[in-house]
Amino acid sequence: MHLLLEEQLTGKFRKLPQPYYVTEYGVAYLGDALELSKLLPDKSVSLVMTSPPFALNRKKAYGNVESSKYVDWFTAFAREFWRVLKDDGSLVIHIGGAWEKGQPTRSLYHFELLLSLCRNNDSNLKFHLAQDFYWFNLAKLPSPAEWVTVRRIRVKDAVDPIWWLSKSPFPKADNRQVLNQYSEAMQKLLKRGYNAGPRPSGHNISSKFQEDLGGAIPPNFLGYANTESNSRYLRACRECGIQPHPARYPVKLPEFFIKFLTDESDLVLDPFSGSNATGEAAEKAKRRWICFETNENYLKGSRFRFENSTT
Ligand SMILES: C[S@@+](CC[C@H](N)C(=O)[O-])C[C@H]1O[C@@H](n2cnc3c(N)ncnc32)[C@H](O)[C@@H]1O
Repeated sequence: MHLLLEEQLTGKFRKLPQPYYVTEYGVAYLGDALELSKLLPDKSVSLVMTSPPFALNRKKAYGNVESSKYVDWFTAFAREFWRVLKDDGSLVIHIGGAWEKGQPTRSLYHFELLLSLCRNNDSNLKFHLAQDFYWFNLAKLPSPAEWVTVRRIRVKDAVDPIWWLSKSPFPKADNRQVLNQYSEAMQKLLKRGYNAGPRPSGHNISSKFQEDLGGAIPPNFLGYANTESNSRYLRACRECGIQPHPARYPVKLPEFFIKFLTDESDLVLDPFSGSNATGEAAEKAKRRWICFETNENYLKGSRFRFENSTT
């Protein structure tokens, strides 16, 4: 029997309601993330990987929260994420920046959220900033139009922050799981060798760098184009007349953090799952997953990501 489903029937996850659909590794639920998270057992999740509704001045279809109220709104969820995370677990939040209403300056709400989650006096909600990441969305359109394309006084906003937070200063992580292919120059260097020793920059390059370690350690700057146009998910949505989710992240994004921060069969939670790109990445990586989503249409569409799902 499906592992999560078995746990749900026999004990650990029994408080959760009837799933919306089930796959080999995961279970999707329709409902409010705050209420559903409360039903998860303590210290059962290795990674909360999510893209919550951002604070926006221009409302999106799924009702975003105003930036002035954002920290309070998110904190209620964060308390539950802290409780359900294992001690070596991580909370990864993809959080787009926002512009102040009516003027060409940036909101600070996502920095305020970061400070509030990491600098407070509550020992049950005191995350560490393990590392800040930046997603460079290569295909982002010039926006906001008024400042970028009409008045031409700002450049396009194409980088989203991703806060990697952890309960302990030493969360589970292994960068050997996410190595990039060596560049051609590096491959040549590995073949040819190079002179070890001090450089004018002050760095001392040791001969250790000549060892082929299977790939290059990735930077905290992730460049993935969000240009999916003919995926199984989009094709099936089109065929069934379902509107695809308007703010999806590419599957490669959760895939990176899932491989980096979890092992096979660990549990990954996406409480604001939208089209469930997180579930698709977890399924491929053979991690168990749970996702929550309030909008039934998004959840219905997300099912197309999986070949064999059942209700
Ligand atoms: C930015 S989208 C997530 C997109 C997703 N990462 C993807 O790639 O498709 C945020 C989602 O959170 C959902 N949402 C908003 N409030 C929620 C809540 N209280 N509980 C569960 N889902 C919620 C919205 O309906 C929306 O689909």
